[in-house]
Amino acid sequence: MIIQTIHMKSVTAEGQGTLSVFEASRDVPFDIKRIYYIHGAPQGTQRGGHAHKALRQVLWCPYGSILIRLDDGHEKSEVLLNDPAKGLIVEHNMWREMIWQQENSVLCVAADSYYEAEDYIRDYDEFLKHMGVEK
Ligand code: TYD
Repeated sequence: MIIQTIHMKSVTAEGQGTLSVFEASRDVPFDIKRIYYIHGAPQGTQRGGHAHKALRQVLWCPYGSILIRLDDGHEKSEVLLNDPAKGLIVEHNMWREMIWQQENSVLCVAADSYYEAEDYIRDYDEFLKHMGVEK
């Protein structure tokens, strides 16, 4: 499985923190139509448990530590988002789970389309079928 991560350009101002930035279509391979973020989750929170038929996303964690589990039906992989300058590209047809390693970690997501409930596959067996995987 090819996992694409990005390292965001980061500019540190001595004693004043760091500004990190990425640009749509330049640093991530798509345009961005929607941004959402998950905050206020306790340690151990598990979210996700779905795939998208078409949606492409970039995930990043500006504060805290979140483990991302990816599964394309054939292979599984894990990426730890614990660096505010690290982004993870999650392509379509990818089952994902996100596990909060630290309370109040923030998960930010930028996506290439508006919200569409019909784009979700929320059943793992249905996902395998969609991917043409025999059980
Ligand atoms: P969901 O994508 O299932 O998040 P997670 O996998 O992290 O639990 O979304 C949670 C809820 O929020 C679900 O009821 C759909 C709603 N939602 C929107 O209304 N708009 C959005 O852009 C997103 C991402 C979710």
